[in-house]
Amino acid sequence: MTKKIVIEPVTRVEGHGKVTILLNDRGNVDQARFHITQVRGFEKFCEGRLFWEMPLITARICGICPVSHHLASAKAGDAILGVTLTPTAEKLRRLIHMAQLVQSHALHFFHLARPDLLFGMDADPTKRNVMGLIAEKPDIAVKGVKLRAFGQKIIEMMGNKRVHPNAAIPGGMNRALSPEQRDDIRGQVDEVIADCQFAIKLFTDYSAQNSEVVASFADFTSSYMGLIDGKGNVEYYDGKLRLKDSNGSILEDNVAPESYLSIIEEMVEDWSYLKFPYYKKLGYPGGMYRVGPLGRLNVADGCTTPLANKEFKNYKKLGDNGIVQASLYYHYARLIEMLNCAEEIKSLVEDEFICGKDIWVNSAQINEEGIGVIEAPRGTLFHHYWVDGSGRIVKANLIVATGNNNLAMNRAVSEVAREFIKGGNVTEGILNRIEVAIRCYDPCLSCSSHALGHMPLEVTILGPDGNISQVLRS
Ligand code: MG
Ligand code: NI
Repeated sequence: MTKKIVIEPVTRVEGHGKVTILLNDRGNVDQARFHITQVRGFEKFCEGRLFWEMPLITARICGICPVSHHLASAKAGDAILGVTLTPTAEKLRRLIHMAQLVQSHALHFFHLARPDLLFGMDADPTKRNVMGLIAEKPDIAVKGVKLRAFGQKIIEMMGNKRVHPNAAIPGGMNRALSPEQRDDIRGQVDEVIADCQFAIKLFTDYSAQNSEVVASFADFTSSYMGLIDGKGNVEYYDGKLRLKDSNGSILEDNVAPESYLSIIEEMVEDWSYLKFPYYKKLGYPGGMYRVGPLGRLNVADGCTTPLANKEFKNYKKLGDNGIVQASLYYHYARLIEMLNCAEEIKSLVEDEFICGKDIWVNSAQINEEGIGVIEAPRGTLFHHYWVDGSGRIVKANLIVATGNNNLAMNRAVSEVAREFIKGGNVTEGILNRIEVAIRCYDPCLSCSSHALGHMPLEVTILGPDGNISQVLRS
């Protein structure tokens, strides 16, 4: 006799998904799964389009992280043209990318994740939300809004629009940064850096007061992946792939992103629209790896900027051999990255080349394939295009950041469900913990299902006879 619990849709994540939990006759968890339920198909839509159009088309995959797709796509286009960017173009791409990371990380921490940290995972759900945050600590909610606005303003400056930018093109950028715009950013960046440090303090204070929960919540072993620069530092825009196992041993190092298919394979499961990438050599599902903030910090040896690097060293002390496994530490890693990116923005706008006018290189060459890889806020993002002689897309392969974490999110759900659901006792607080586990990964379900959408929460509990025994809504 089994009982099935469905959490659908999951709240305070970006997009659509649901959770089903199957209980056995003792009321304990038999199986827990996180499903992506919307239909995919973006790769197919792209066929027949010119690669020149792709940075604009693929930005439409997602209203949450359009800049990530825009840039990965432009990078794939650079590879098709066989060009190297001018120094100014590369710095401008980095600038808009860092801005996207700051605004995305700020949104996630201050508005999506913080209700659970401030009010507690068992708090009244009518209070445990963004409105509750504003009512309780308006000054802190405003800091989150300001951090986001800073990132969005840079995206708007460079991309002409706040959501779907039109900034990068194969071979470079289509708009220079004016000295006035640069000075505008410069004028704000110190306050932004201070607010990032404030956010880190919010997390470390929470962590100090809830050390057992933070250290044990959705804690499991996996491998990790991220891009690193030539010195082994966390790198978001370019660099090489590194994979480490749960003991901190290097599985792969300095892998050219173009060779991603030599290390990653994808599995299809009939219960989710999102594929399950895994590390080839360890097989499926043993080759589960985690990406995003935790993945990046776990594989790296340092951060590129002084304040972030200082915090990075504290982070590394949390786990053996610098590998931090418990899922709530995603928040800590995310905030260290936000600080890293804010400091990077500061050095970019102090760079003498940033307002240069030499921002595009053309080429008559059309290579058959182009691969663009970047570290999106949620993790490694791959755009791979095959084109014909006129530059039309014959085939496209996208592996989105959230996809890379698919196995891990399922594992996190399963860990938390097994830990907290005993003897058929399922409270709202327990169901929320399952969502908290998913939210650590900040999944962009819009992206991974290649469709847009937000939703309220609905939890359905099915009895052994398959009939609905309880429905909960938030
Ligand atoms: Mg794909
Ligand atoms: Ni997205």
